[in-house]
Amino acid sequence: MTNIDTVLDYHEQTKHYYRRYARSIGYLDWANKPYAYREYTNTSKLPLKLCFDNETPLYKELFTDPVDAKDINYETISQFLQFSMGLAAKKSTGSDSWELRCNASSGNLHPTESYILTTHEDQINASCGVFHYNPYKHELERVADTPTALLENDTFLIGISSILYREIWKYGERAFRYTQLDAGHALRSFEISALMLGWNVKVLEMQHEEAEALFGLNHKDRFIAQEREDIDMVLQISMMSQKSINPEILSGLISNVFVGKVNLLASEHQSWELIDSVEDASSKAQTISSFPSFSQHTSNSEQSSKDVVLKRRSAQMMDLHRSQISKTQFLTLLNSVGTTGSKVHLAVFINNVEELESGLYLYLRDEEKLTHLKENLRSTFLYQKSAPNLYLLELGDYKQNSKNISCSQEIASDGAFSLGMLCEFEENIKLSGALEYKKLYWECGSIGQQLYLEATSLSLSATGIGCFLDDAMHSLLGVKERSYQVLYHFTIGRAIVDMRLQNLHPYSHLIS
Ligand SMILES: Cc1cc2nc3c(=O)[nH]c(=O)nc-3n(C[C@H](O)[C@H](O)[C@H](O)COP(=O)(O)O)c2cc1C
Repeated sequence: MTNIDTVLDYHEQTKHYYRRYARSIGYLDWANKPYAYREYTNTSKLPLKLCFDNETPLYKELFTDPVDAKDINYETISQFLQFSMGLAAKKSTGSDSWELRCNASSGNLHPTESYILTTHEDQINASCGVFHYNPYKHELERVADTPTALLENDTFLIGISSILYREIWKYGERAFRYTQLDAGHALRSFEISALMLGWNVKVLEMQHEEAEALFGLNHKDRFIAQEREDIDMVLQISMMSQKSINPEILSGLISNVFVGKVNLLASEHQSWELIDSVEDASSKAQTISSFPSFSQHTSNSEQSSKDVVLKRRSAQMMDLHRSQISKTQFLTLLNSVGTTGSKVHLAVFINNVEELESGLYLYLRDEEKLTHLKENLRSTFLYQKSAPNLYLLELGDYKQNSKNISCSQEIASDGAFSLGMLCEFEENIKLSGALEYKKLYWECGSIGQQLYLEATSLSLSATGIGCFLDDAMHSLLGVKERSYQVLYHFTIGRAIVDMRLQNLHPYSHLIS
């Protein structure tokens, strides 16, 4: 099988149907739930500063009035990592407590790890090198040296990687999909945290093998085979420019010596060969590159950006009786993920939005794709323009449909609206290569993180929905063959807060 056949086959095999969900062991083996925090033994540790008291710009200013770039130093790197991948909340019921983070993650399992590579000693407390970030301890672990001053002094790199096993434990064969969505959430979290400091983020175009070597993930003897960790993206973080880094400089950054071995996350493992094969097919010998970022923004929130990031939580239940939102709020939410050149659009079930009739709508993130969509979706749809980029396809009450499609989850029907992220699929993957399969998930995850933040900034709530019946949604949309596929669902409304949960300080374990 070619790599492209492998990813297309994986996609088919991991669809959920009414009567058959994708393969998994079918129960949760609590005794072997993977530990959520990667640690490297025998590494020197560099505690970071907790930055809850730092001033950050208003949320709305992130997009309209960027702050002057802050210097890269111990203080700002501490903030950058805390407000992207750090802990945001700790909840408890009785003797049980759990942490929640700035970046959303399916099942709160957090497969995404992050690394920082700096070549300037003054960027982090008189030390340069490659470091792993531990969000629980808010601490860096030094895993390798780097040559000094090889990058410009306004630049450092971030590596985003995934431990598939954390998601496999719960989701079985569908876990690869969740893991990639989570990587997209992490990417947007880094972008937002960078904006708070006036920094730029660019996904570097580079070979997968070179990217994994930069962060030592190719030194397999340091890892546990069943808990493989794979590089997803390398981000260039810069104070000013987004200048490309010369490929020779990137190669010169690769260290031959990496120290530290990883901790074991679970003592017994499930094995799903299909996941290893889709991971290899969609990454090995391929060139990582970026996808279109968001170009429009209309939020007027007066909340500080750190408050929005820290307050973002997934709704467990939506309040059907308070679900109505205004048309302005609705359009603000969708416009916050507007862009051009994207292959990901939004099929929206409007349940309760003032001035917009209930029904099925299409939000085109790129209006130029209208003809292509018309050719590939149900021919009887109305395509009646209701607002910029928004088309009514069919009037009706879609609450029951959206709930059924979202694995019978009421969060989909009890909010103001829910949506499916509709991606240009088979032809696109055949043209772009197997890595495109991952990139579509990354883009969807990144849209999800932005929608979560936008909803929070409007005092609304949201939840990502990875459990959905793929082909039920496709047949409702009348998708021709596999021209388009939905890769992520999402719901927005007003949450019912579970008053039984107690809120603790997210870093109570560090500051008590
Ligand atoms: C990719 C993805 C898929 C998710 N799927 C579901 C879902 O199907 N149902 C649900 O109730 N929550 C879902 N969630 C929400 C997570 O359970 C939630 O993010 C996690 O528990 C962490 O909580 P937090 O978002 O408040 O930090 C999903 C989240 C992500 C990022």
